[in-house]
Amino acid sequence: MDGVQSATSCPVFILLGPPGAGKGTQARMLEERFGYVQLSTGDLLRAAVAAGTEAGNAADAVMKAGGLVSDDIVIAILRDRLAQPDCTKGVILDGFPRTGAQAEALDTMLAETGQRINAAISLDVDDAAMVDRIAGRYTCGTCGEGYHDSFKRPTSDGICDKCGGTDMTRRADDTVEAVAARLEAYHAQTAPLISYYAGHDVLQRVGAMGSIDEIATTLGNVVKAAAA
Ligand code: AP5
Repeated sequence: MDGVQSATSCPVFILLGPPGAGKGTQARMLEERFGYVQLSTGDLLRAAVAAGTEAGNAADAVMKAGGLVSDDIVIAILRDRLAQPDCTKGVILDGFPRTGAQAEALDTMLAETGQRINAAISLDVDDAAMVDRIAGRYTCGTCGEGYHDSFKRPTSDGICDKCGGTDMTRRADDTVEAVAARLEAYHAQTAPLISYYAGHDVLQRVGAMGSIDEIATTLGNVVKAAAA
């Protein structure tokens, strides 16, 4: 593990990008390499849906349709998770913020604890390729490791390389209709954050059409430099 963080600096990284850009894949690799904590609002919301919480019940239909869950719900979930002790190791925000209101709420939360954003990294991709990436995606239901029918197969079909689990699942919102809605929501509501973070001098852009390992190398270098 690269030891670039100190206990007091608590680096904060944001991964921006449309559905399928590789945010989750790369966040998990960065977590492993640097010891930061991946905070995926998509994962937190799916856990809330599975647990049948009030927030989960409110989010369920919106997520299946590919829309954005309300700012109030997402900000509350993220605020609770950021307050957990493990986040002092540094965090990689995967899928948050997604709206101007969420970006401003994050600025406020970080200011309250004297933290700052080290880098907001936009994973730049072509929309057309995203449908193929999402259509082939599946996940280990035991540990959450992500796989792909063509681009990232486990060493033995059906068996997770990481934990040995055999319960592979596909997401309810990976339908053609929901993916189209998610791409539309990204361009209308999240892509403007690229300018927002450029204006705050923390934007970094990474071309994300190469292989998973090539992108991980570039991204790792960006994170290492910005964490210093
Ligand atoms: P979320 O879970 O965040 O989904 P998303 O943003 O649509 O992103 P994905 O998880 O689909 O893609 P990814 O970029 O993580 O790609 P991945 O690494 O998996 O959100 C789901 C829903 O929750 C939203 O639609 C919304 O309703 C709600 N939500 C979440 N956060 C919210 C917020 N802040 N505000 C409001 N609502 C919110 O990669 C995809 C596949 O491609 C994988 O199979 C992978 O193996 C493969 N792959 C990755 N990289 C490569 C590569 N370089 N080459 C080839 N294949 C690759």
